[in-house]
Amino acid sequence: MVYQIYPRSFRDSNGDGVGDINGIRAQLPYLAWLGVDAIWLSPVYPSPMRDFGYDVSNYVDVDPVFGTLQDFDALVHEAHAAGLRVLLDWIPNHTSSDHPWFVDSRASRDSAHRDWYIWRDAKPDGSLPNNWIGAWSGEPAWTWDQTTDQYYLHCFLPSQPDLSWANVAVRDAMHETLRFWLDRGVDGFRMDVVHLLSKDVDVDDPEDLRGLSHTPLNDVPVTHEYLREIRSVLDEYGNDRVSVGEVYLFDPERVATYYGDGDELHLSFNFASLFTAWRADAWRDVILRTEEAFSAVGGWPTWVLSNHDNARVATRLLGDQQRVRAALVLLLTLRGTPFLYAGEELGLEDAVIPPDRVADPGGRDGCRAPLPWTPEPGHGWPGEPWLPFADRAAEQSVEVQRVDDGSMLSLTRRVLDLRRRTAALRSGSLDGVRVERDVLSFDRAKGVQRIRVIVNFATTECEMAPVAGRILLSSVGVVNPGVLRAGEVVILELAPVGSDGPPAPLSD
Ligand code: NOJ
Repeated sequence: MVYQIYPRSFRDSNGDGVGDINGIRAQLPYLAWLGVDAIWLSPVYPSPMRDFGYDVSNYVDVDPVFGTLQDFDALVHEAHAAGLRVLLDWIPNHTSSDHPWFVDSRASRDSAHRDWYIWRDAKPDGSLPNNWIGAWSGEPAWTWDQTTDQYYLHCFLPSQPDLSWANVAVRDAMHETLRFWLDRGVDGFRMDVVHLLSKDVDVDDPEDLRGLSHTPLNDVPVTHEYLREIRSVLDEYGNDRVSVGEVYLFDPERVATYYGDGDELHLSFNFASLFTAWRADAWRDVILRTEEAFSAVGGWPTWVLSNHDNARVATRLLGDQQRVRAALVLLLTLRGTPFLYAGEELGLEDAVIPPDRVADPGGRDGCRAPLPWTPEPGHGWPGEPWLPFADRAAEQSVEVQRVDDGSMLSLTRRVLDLRRRTAALRSGSLDGVRVERDVLSFDRAKGVQRIRVIVNFATTECEMAPVAGRILLSSVGVVNPGVLRAGEVVILELAPVGSDGPPAPLSD
């Protein structure tokens, strides 16, 4: 399981209200206790923070607000000692407009870095080079630059100009940034919007999708060549460094193509799961589509329910505790690598952000609220954090939940423990997906071990068909054989085929 840390909001060690690397170091024992395998840090590079680090002004350093390179080295060292791998966010599609490459690029049409970015004249009739829309604003993805009288492309904010990956000098420079961190011992990267690396800027987006950001529409074949080059950089370091691409396309079939022939991404996000309604048939469909699409390319799937860009799953499920618990168990029992967003193990909901505290131009502050560590005011943060806490921060704090056997945190830890001890859940096949009324079930199998996961999506209880096997875990807590309670998930170990007796106990 990969645990996503949004560093600003995780843990503050120096009282400036912004979480930092030393704060993460202090909580490594918590993450190891929880059962995390790897952490992914949202960006910690120097940045003017107009997109809170996704606008990088230097790829090979740490922003002072997060600490120093020495702090980072210590984090990697200590994480490894605690059995945790460390993935960095890497933002290859665009830099900050403050990056020296762009500062030089925009200075003159002759500058050395001019063609490191995507510059275009206005069309002969004076209109924009194409009709693309940037993310969030509904505004064009082009900004006019008066110094040189051309437009530059930015699929996100005007302060995030897109790099020109067609330029081999850009590719070489970006590969060097990977090597810089790989040399320091990082285990891999989450790669921001990698499906955007190549763009057909001479082709308009369809008129009927006008108003939609260009990002989820871009899918250009030559990107696969760039991904193969990136993969060979990782391969220079052996076969245990990993790439996880943010392929922000919504069809699992298209996402799966980014695994190439096993020579592109190791893993890709499958955002279909993040946008699936809490309904048995909707989950059956996304599971079947994912299985089919990823099996076709021999790719290992991933699953995600929350991240720093979208309302948290607990908020989307309107805080309904049984459903939130069920969603977590589902996430951790599907076939593939689950990504858990810090705070999801607490069932944390989004914070309500008063207008005078809005920070993000994309309106995503709510899901970025600081993690509550303790119940008292301040919740373990030494200074006023950069965003307000969520409403139920006290009761949902780590300290409160850690000692409560029935808490969401305890449930998360139990499921992760079961997953680790159970080969079928970790790496087994997935089959037998079916829905009856509001109940979804599927099996995970490895060797003779067969595990059944049954999810009741209904708000009422129902009878559970008798199954030869034993219940290993219920999302509700105490097991109630024969009955599935509202929103309950149970995990069963089925008796081996042909045996009458109960299955052998799981080994520790
Ligand atoms: C996707 C990231 O997850 C998001 O936070 C960011 O704003 C955009 N890419 C642009 O880098």
